[in-house]
Amino acid sequence: MMENKKQIANVAASPKTGWTVRESVAEKSQNKKKIIILGIESSCDDTSAAVIRDGVLLSNVTASQAVHEAYGGVVPELASRAHQQNIVPVVDQALKRAGVSKNELSAIAFTRGPGLMGSLLVGVSFAKGLAAALDIPMIDVNHLQGHVLAHFIKESENDNTAPPFPFLCLLVSGGNSQIVLVKAYNDMQIIGQTIDDAAGEAIDKCSKVMGLGYPGGPVIDRLARQGNPEAYHFAKPAIPGYDYSFSGLKTSFLYHLRDWLAEDPDFIKHHKEDLAASLEKTVVDILMNKLRRAAKDLKIRHVAVAGGVSANTGLREAFKDHARKFGWTIYIPKFSYTTDNAAMIAITGVFKYADKEFCPMEAPAYSRVQ
Ligand code: KG4
Repeated sequence: MMENKKQIANVAASPKTGWTVRESVAEKSQNKKKIIILGIESSCDDTSAAVIRDGVLLSNVTASQAVHEAYGGVVPELASRAHQQNIVPVVDQALKRAGVSKNELSAIAFTRGPGLMGSLLVGVSFAKGLAAALDIPMIDVNHLQGHVLAHFIKESENDNTAPPFPFLCLLVSGGNSQIVLVKAYNDMQIIGQTIDDAAGEAIDKCSKVMGLGYPGGPVIDRLARQGNPEAYHFAKPAIPGYDYSFSGLKTSFLYHLRDWLAEDPDFIKHHKEDLAASLEKTVVDILMNKLRRAAKDLKIRHVAVAGGVSANTGLREAFKDHARKFGWTIYIPKFSYTTDNAAMIAITGVFKYADKEFCPMEAPAYSRVQ
């Protein structure tokens, strides 16, 4: 007898959420149902959608928002409106590039927080609407967990570059600077974090006072390649444990610049490469000093970096240097997985799907870590 592929043979209810996972008779008997996860990311100013099939990334589409450049920072209301415009075409493109129809999706993973509430709401509402229409489970993802798990994104079956557990991950972005001890995909301990500004935020603000535009990170990176990192010395914090602080560096940079500009109004124009190189070196030194201490204390040699600032050339070089000097095995993500992207949300969804960690329809977005 021909098996009806659409026949629902098994409806397993998740005890936690009540969501149901359906398998057809054909799929179950052949035990080769493809697990296809759509990931959606909208926590800040990037609208992104990605598709992963059986653990392998098929597409990762991101629409960035140039509208904020004129304001020197992300304007939440404008970000939210841009997400509304972008979300449908971005998801559509991600499905098309993956060669997957929405009816084939097994679940939808989405960033639930932390992030800008107006931005998050667009992705969360879209994910809920689509999941309800398709009658498939939803998987809520913590954005920061997604950044760490970006190291598990596989671009092909043979891609085996993921770190083994436990490993340390330096998570550095515009909103966070953390050292995370990763014991399992769902067992992460923040052993150090910034007590004020994040590394990316400090770089962006220093870049702004130099009149270099937003976001400053990539501009500082580019200029730093042509400058002398020892030209100027800025304040480094003395904070106990593995925690960070970047507000002192920001103030030190500002005050130095004010004094130099008083003597030479064209100081920035003449010295921007050296300023960028010295700023970058200070940030990298601060980050690596604590990370090195944590790795030594915990006797961990598998060390990863994640988040937008992990795109930085100086930081990547410092990682390679530490690998040589201290025998670390290092994990540096591809550029496309450093800044906000949905591939990292989808891969987190893959882990959670395997454990049937679904979330209820009423789960609200959250702007801060719960
Ligand atoms: O992770 P991300 O895209 O967004 C969140 O904050 O979640 O990180 C953005 C941050 C910004 O501060 C940006 O200036 C910084 O990453 N960034 C860089 C570089 N590329 C992006 N910082 C230093 N060097 C870079 N090449």
